[in-house]
Amino acid sequence: MTTTTPEAQLSQLSELIAAQMGLHFPRERWPDLERGIRSAAREFDLKDAESCLEWLISSPLTRKQVEILASHLTVGETYFFRERKSLEILEGHVLPELIRARRGNEKRLRIWSAGCCTGEEPYSIAILLTKLIPDWKDWKITILGTDLNPRFLQTASEGIYPKWSFRETPEWVREKYFTVTKDGRWAVIPSIKKMVTIHYLNLADRAFPSLLTNTNAMDVVFCRNVLMYFTPEAAKKVIQNLFCSLMDGGWLVVSPTETSQALFAQFVTVNFPGVTLYKKDAQRLPAEEVSPHELGDEPRAAWPPSADVCVELDWGIRSPAQPFPETLPSDAEEGNQGGPRPTSYGEALTLYERSRYEETVEKLVVWLSQNCDDAKAMLLLARVYANQGKLAEALEWCEKTIAADKMNAGYHYLRATILQEQGSLAEARASLKRTLYLDPKFVLAHFALANLAQREERFKESDKYFENALSLLSAYRQEDILPESEGMTAGRFMEIVTVQRNQGVRAEK
Ligand SMILES: C[S@@+](CC[C@H](N)C(=O)[O-])C[C@H]1O[C@@H](n2cnc3c(N)ncnc32)[C@H](O)[C@@H]1O
Repeated sequence: MTTTTPEAQLSQLSELIAAQMGLHFPRERWPDLERGIRSAAREFDLKDAESCLEWLISSPLTRKQVEILASHLTVGETYFFRERKSLEILEGHVLPELIRARRGNEKRLRIWSAGCCTGEEPYSIAILLTKLIPDWKDWKITILGTDLNPRFLQTASEGIYPKWSFRETPEWVREKYFTVTKDGRWAVIPSIKKMVTIHYLNLADRAFPSLLTNTNAMDVVFCRNVLMYFTPEAAKKVIQNLFCSLMDGGWLVVSPTETSQALFAQFVTVNFPGVTLYKKDAQRLPAEEVSPHELGDEPRAAWPPSADVCVELDWGIRSPAQPFPETLPSDAEEGNQGGPRPTSYGEALTLYERSRYEETVEKLVVWLSQNCDDAKAMLLLARVYANQGKLAEALEWCEKTIAADKMNAGYHYLRATILQEQGSLAEARASLKRTLYLDPKFVLAHFALANLAQREERFKESDKYFENALSLLSAYRQEDILPESEGMTAGRFMEIVTVQRNQGVRAEK
């Protein structure tokens, strides 16, 4: 019989945590891990840290265990207008340029605070945007804040803060954008609160970029002071997925302590005085060879990232486990010297999976000119356009897909998602109802209708749809992959539905 030492158990648990949450607990951080387990033990109703540790490693971590561990192991350090210098560069250079480009066009901006903690970061971004865009109410502005820790998410969706959250914040922020509550805290004003959407998202899951989690076609992604807690492997995967979530020309903002030539080699590094930002250039492929630099103090593995990242598995286009081919077949390999290279849906799909959207469009257009009733190719084209933020084109191709196959509930659901992103909420609702008409068990459509109703403060209606979603989900096993869900498990989705529903319950009070 083998005796498992506490050391071996801690090592095993840190591996499980790295795999499921991305968080890095090397030996020197085991005291932090032990502290976290001790406090989690109370919440799990276990008598002490030792039995908690034993129980956690006895089988793969469940969704609930991950949630509870997250609330004891993640670092909640944040405040309004943190790292002012970066925000000043955004205010002075990056955002004005973006706003100028969009003003004459569709007035649309999409910003994501990934690892938003208690919400100070996304609300700071909202404040910044209202300063920069006088007519912001006429714009379609998405500010998404996501985190893994349900307690942080709760605070973020309430939007009420102690004075400590303003510890290095200019005075005008609190004066202009907050009101004092009865208990002496500070509530973000409704107009700013409404600009921000808070959602659960575990960055270690492969749930992005995705229309489902609204993490596609972002103009700016903030992922500050998050990756420094990740294992090198997990950080690389997250960075690659964030790259895919950005529009061409979009920006990634990390903390000054997290900049790294090696880790962000796929981006164009743009140096401003005292601030480094990363810009996506879709033409640029992952670097072939980069010397192993470091992120923060932790040793980092070398680039390029492994090929199994940048996951898009929606609507049956691709399965989660399919790796990318490292290179596309050359003309010679295809036996096609001279003349134009034959194009195919498969080739377009490969390009799409590598985030090479412009080339994907080129291939699909040629393919569709010869195979004009190929609904799958049309659907892929709609999705590429959606990922590029070209919503009018995405909608056009989605509608062509529907015309080719009217009875596919998933196509109507995609249409609803695009319409929602365009701000056409009534039409989106109609499409979701159509989805449910075709497939009453389409969980995601119930969830989307619940969210729409919650957003418009029709809480009774939203509760009904949340109930429907939860009751349909209860028929699945936790580990079952939900249909049309981009690889999301039923258990994970149930948690998301529950967190979202609770936000509504609190808002109603
Ligand atoms: C130090 S806070 C940073 C907050 C904010 N971005 C800032 O810079 O002020 C780190 C946040 O990352 C979140 N986090 C850690 N691991 C995560 C994961 N796997 N997925 C999503 N969020 C995660 C934590 O819950 C925490 O809220």
